[in-house]
Amino acid sequence: MTDFDLTLHNGRIVTADADFIGDIGIANGVITAISAKLPAGKRAIDAAGRLVMPGGIDSHCHVEQLSSMGVLCADDWYSASVSAAHGGNTTIVPFAAQHRGQSLRQVAEEYAASAAAKSVIDFSYHLIISDPTPQTLNHDLPELIRAGITSFKVFMTYDKLKLDDKQLLDVFAIAAREGALPMVHAENNDVISWIARHLLAAGHTAPKYHAVSHDPIAENEATQRAISLASVLEVPVLIVHVSTQGGAQAIHAAQTLGAPVYGETCPHYLLLTAEDIDIPGVEGAKFCCSPPPRDPVSQQALWQSLDSGTLALLSSDHAPYRYDESGKLPEGEATTFKQIANGLPGLEVRMPLLFSEGVRSGRLTLQQFVALTSTNHARMYGLYPKKGTISVGADADIAIWDPEHTLTLTAAGLHDAVGYTPYEGREVTGWPTTVISRGEVIVDNRALHAERGRGRFIARGLPAPLQKTREISPRAALLRKIFPNVIEP
Ligand code: URP
Ligand code: ZN
Ligand code: ZN
Repeated sequence: MTDFDLTLHNGRIVTADADFIGDIGIANGVITAISAKLPAGKRAIDAAGRLVMPGGIDSHCHVEQLSSMGVLCADDWYSASVSAAHGGNTTIVPFAAQHRGQSLRQVAEEYAASAAAKSVIDFSYHLIISDPTPQTLNHDLPELIRAGITSFKVFMTYDKLKLDDKQLLDVFAIAAREGALPMVHAENNDVISWIARHLLAAGHTAPKYHAVSHDPIAENEATQRAISLASVLEVPVLIVHVSTQGGAQAIHAAQTLGAPVYGETCPHYLLLTAEDIDIPGVEGAKFCCSPPPRDPVSQQALWQSLDSGTLALLSSDHAPYRYDESGKLPEGEATTFKQIANGLPGLEVRMPLLFSEGVRSGRLTLQQFVALTSTNHARMYGLYPKKGTISVGADADIAIWDPEHTLTLTAAGLHDAVGYTPYEGREVTGWPTTVISRGEVIVDNRALHAERGRGRFIARGLPAPLQKTREISPRAALLRKIFPNVIEP
């Protein structure tokens, strides 16, 4: 007789800070024992020769979201969560996006309802703030933060999403006061628009000019500015999807001075370059995202920044738009680089790509892999230690990996609704063959065993960057104090 619903035996258990062979006992969806030898539970899995790691947390993905150009993502909460689960993820954190004129509260409520009805894995969501009205700043944002939505994204580019510097300071001040982590898309909108206008006027419309218009300097300048603005109030800030050496260097420089500045990058910045966009016709649209893939020097700098810890997160930035008129190509073959929906699919392949190209190629250790794909996300966004680790008391969210399993990536073999993958034909070695969510085996040997809507909303706590007791300067303390409790219209 045993109390375990499920036991995992003889696997190599790897967390962000441990690596040993052992058994795991699970009851009522929670890890209740970890030991060298445990009695078998009602169901027992022999994980000998396999890696037993925390389920992935993808904290930057776009699901069932309208882009600023009015294009709906190809994936809804069901297809996205199924695809994520097949790729070894047990939690996703996409975005409830406020477009101008919309009520943030209503956007969040509708988004949460759709997620609860469809997601097969646990979830939370960030907010996107594009309309910081008094209603948003005085009521909706603080109330949502208090309800466990403890992070939000703001944009410095895209005409219909971008905030100006004053607005950025307003939302940073709310983040400091309420305890939320601001995530910044850092690109200088004027630089991009100016270059794009002149490219188009000169008849340069092909997808490859997307990368030309999103000059690295636009990212470097905005990253530096975002860090400077956050440091006015000494509020923690996370720069998302870092693609340049200059961006990574700006984050590193701030960290060296002790500033609470964090960075994230994505597989496409490690594995693709602007040359991938440079293919005949409009097919390069399949590789257009913002910021765009760069060059080998940037790739090298980003790998190094993951290794050193300058960049703490590896997210997919899954932004799924089909390669047709409904998505990438609103004007078909005549679509200019300015009209292409921005974003790449990548939920399912994020971890296998990092495993194959990072761990197997010797760039990263297994423990770094776990930290970059799961544990750091849990800490960064207030999910730890319920999520993101294997320890007694944690949710039994576990992915069992076969490190020798080799697979050729094809769109047809993936489970999203996008219809293409930028990694078509690429071979990866290492795959999550069994995925367990709250003690339930939801994926086994590439077969799904999960009901639509079984995923649960996770109200998040204070992000780790805000938990640290950090003395702020008298100057920042004064600025935080004079920031009004109620913002006038
Ligand atoms: O190109 C991208 N990354 N599209 C998704 C939206 C964003 O900026 O993250
Ligand atoms: Zn972005
Ligand atoms: Zn994104």
